[in-house]
Amino acid sequence: MQNSCMQQIIVPAILTTPAPFGRRIAPNRFLAQPMEGNDAENGGVPSERTLARYAALGRGQWGVTVVEAVSVVPDCLARVNQLILEKQNLDGFKRLVAAYKQANPDGILLVQITHSGRKGVGGTVPTTLTPGPEGARLLTSADLDDIRRRFVAAARLVEQAGADGIDFKLCHGYLGAEMLRPSNNRSDGWGGTWENRTRFLRESVPEIRSLTGKDFLIGARLSLYEGIRGGCGTLAADELLEDLSEMKRLVALMSELGMDYVNASAGIPGETSEITRPVPQARWFYLDHIRYSKTVSDVLRAASGAGKDRPAVIQSAFSLLKADALPHAAQCIERGYSDFAGFGRQIFADPETPAKLLCGEEPRWCTACSGCSKLMVRQVNDGCSLYDEYYKKLLSQGAGA
Ligand SMILES: Cc1cc2nc3c(=O)[nH]c(=O)nc-3n(C[C@H](O)[C@H](O)[C@H](O)COP(=O)(O)O)c2cc1C
Repeated sequence: MQNSCMQQIIVPAILTTPAPFGRRIAPNRFLAQPMEGNDAENGGVPSERTLARYAALGRGQWGVTVVEAVSVVPDCLARVNQLILEKQNLDGFKRLVAAYKQANPDGILLVQITHSGRKGVGGTVPTTLTPGPEGARLLTSADLDDIRRRFVAAARLVEQAGADGIDFKLCHGYLGAEMLRPSNNRSDGWGGTWENRTRFLRESVPEIRSLTGKDFLIGARLSLYEGIRGGCGTLAADELLEDLSEMKRLVALMSELGMDYVNASAGIPGETSEITRPVPQARWFYLDHIRYSKTVSDVLRAASGAGKDRPAVIQSAFSLLKADALPHAAQCIERGYSDFAGFGRQIFADPETPAKLLCGEEPRWCTACSGCSKLMVRQVNDGCSLYDEYYKKLLSQGAGA
């Protein structure tokens, strides 16, 4: 990219140089994490607002961009205007991919696919694996077989839409994470033993590989530790204490399955929110994210052996650090703790962050004010309520409150 601006901010070279991302090469190490805009049209089709958001991210020249949580079913949504990936919406997703790729043809574009499980709201039905919230429907074995098939079908649609791969959402308390938990004590083939709790991944990844092209990327986002009793990152249904042994085993399994990357996250928004997205009052949770991505990197290095390609590791929760995120991310990569620096709230504050940094311009930094989190809870369109007048107005009007 042309450096036509005055240098004002130092960007470590390691962040701006191309790097392996699974079976592909990403043009730089900046990764736009999935961030729900809750602005699809009826039926889960990307709206003009959705397309504009992804066009802006394309202009941002991110090395990798992960499209926000897209549901594989129409009847269990975490957001009332959530994107839904079914055959009839394929043209809308083609437009989304085109809007992004027009400005950033070399940038890798992934789509996060999900089932919202017990987090379903807004006229849709929350569904659970194990007896859970009042009113939630307990999923049958046949339901789970069907949901797994829908993930596979969604992966094929992602490829047909022209995107580069998928991100299984196995994090943040959604169905994919619920399946993995030690507290998943279902007595059918979807719970209890480790084999059953990881069956979803062990069956889906080879199937998707066999149905998609050789360069199609498959990875997953994990909550290494959820911070709840019996959650991911514990070792028993009634245990709260963090022990990453099972999550390490999961990461080794992902490597065995030939997955391309591991996106390391933690916590459950709405339950242990600050673990997922550190805020100024709970700033030091970001340190845990270094530990989580280093844990993943260590396992993958050991599992892959010398000289073998290993899945890329994405570190989360950089937004709070503002400009300090740059030397911090560079150091984590140089020391082998992670390979890509994942920014969440920062992509709302300034979707063009890497492009600006690449020409020495200071982006608008996220202040971790939590405005976007409040809009998310209110189930209205979501974006940056600090810098963007549309979202600022939504927040000040108390829309959806
Ligand atoms: C409004 C909002 C929407 C989010 N949507 C998603 C999502 O769709 N999928 C996901 O895995 N994480 C989602 N996250 C979590 C972010 O991707 C990210 O992990 C978190 O904000 C911490 O990173 P940061 O400190 O860089 O913001 C969301 C977070 C916020 C605040």
